[in-house]
Amino acid sequence: MAEAKFRTPKGTHDVLPEDQRYMTYIKKAVRHRARQAGYQRIDTPLFEKREIFERGIGEHTDIVEKELFMVSAKQKEGDAEFVLRPEFTASVCRSYIEHSMNQLPQPVELYSIGPLFRHDRPQKGRYRQFHQFNFEIIGLRDPSLDAQLIKVITKIFTDLQILDRLKLQINNIGTSENRKAYTEALKDFFIGKERNLPEIDRGRLKVNPLRLLDSKEEDTHILLKSAPSLEQFLDDESKEYHATVLEYLEELGIPYEENISLVRGLDYYTQTVFEFWDQSTGAQNAVGGGGRYDGLIELLGGKPTPGVGFAGGMERIIWHMKEAGVKAPHKDQVDVFIAQLGPEAKKKCLTLISELRDIGVHTIGVLGETSIKSQMRHADRFGAKYTILMGQIEVKEDTIILRDMAAGKQKQIPFKKAVPEIIKLLGKKNLDTYTLKDHLGEIDED
Ligand code: HAM
Repeated sequence: MAEAKFRTPKGTHDVLPEDQRYMTYIKKAVRHRARQAGYQRIDTPLFEKREIFERGIGEHTDIVEKELFMVSAKQKEGDAEFVLRPEFTASVCRSYIEHSMNQLPQPVELYSIGPLFRHDRPQKGRYRQFHQFNFEIIGLRDPSLDAQLIKVITKIFTDLQILDRLKLQINNIGTSENRKAYTEALKDFFIGKERNLPEIDRGRLKVNPLRLLDSKEEDTHILLKSAPSLEQFLDDESKEYHATVLEYLEELGIPYEENISLVRGLDYYTQTVFEFWDQSTGAQNAVGGGGRYDGLIELLGGKPTPGVGFAGGMERIIWHMKEAGVKAPHKDQVDVFIAQLGPEAKKKCLTLISELRDIGVHTIGVLGETSIKSQMRHADRFGAKYTILMGQIEVKEDTIILRDMAAGKQKQIPFKKAVPEIIKLLGKKNLDTYTLKDHLGEIDED
């Protein structure tokens, strides 16, 4: 990489054209599957009141405690604190309440795509600005909704050709009452044993004991072997709910692995939680995760309203697609390069370029002052299929020279034949035309 005075901030990266193709591919798959299943797009602001995430995700979670990016403007005493959004779910629920979406037919199914911000220690697959696609189903509680959501996600991973690299981990962590009782039992169990816990987990035991279950520390896991298990604290309703979700997954032909240690890092979850793990490396690199959050809307000041959702990490998905050798199809090829010499030719080429573009031919016209030879080298580097050349002689004769770059052959034709000839060569069906009418429903392009 070239020595540069300014670089992207730590943990962030430019999404260069090559990766844009993957991003677009993922977005297209998401939009398509979302439409098929009745989800509608929602965009929320990039920043929100800190309290929304504090209440929703939980005050003592890593995300809220350590990873929020503060948004500072000139503030007066008593002003609300704003943070860059670290996830979509709490914002979408805030919006559900704010816009009285409980008046709409339930469930309300919403999806989002965009950047999120977490001030985490950057490492492979973990960035400070990253992208998710996110699904939420709000307003109804039924195990078939959990299963349907998971099915839509597996379809997207199939479209992106990475499903066979992933495995679905699923668990039920019970109601918040179940968890409260379990948390107390876990705290009791560790009385007198704190010294044996690694420092990081001693801290967790105090503020968020459930996180011990998915600790990365081996010593913690040894101790947990004789600790009470969360499963013992689940009420019958949760057990039945879980069994039904699993039954529906089987009905849908979705392989899963039950994982009683899966608790997820956000406090709002109740009952179903799940993640898609990398088959080979496991939890560290989950490409996505989600679950049910039946208490979240109430926590944010709404009426008790159930919800279930999922978010996929787009950078990690792109990594998998590249590893699997998946090529992102794109339409970025250059059809025609225009090379010209002299002021008259330049003038004529201006309209030719505009005309070609209008009929859907990808056309590059640099229109500089360099020699035809160096412009031809340019055309080569752009990978243009055809080059149209126009010098003083061609202007005089009202012709152009049309060169087939791959074949290395060229011919001289009348200027007015240039456009129809290019259409013939490329084929009408390959022209990149776009009318809003044909793409209704796809106007959410970014
Ligand atoms: P999450 O597990 O925090 O869940 O994030 C979901 C996915 O986003 C992760 O599995 C990962 O692929 C990606 N991700 C998270 N943090 C980073 C990071 N720092 N760098 C790169 N990728 C990252 C949620 O965000 C929940 N809101 C999901 C959800 C929706 N639950 C219910 N509805």
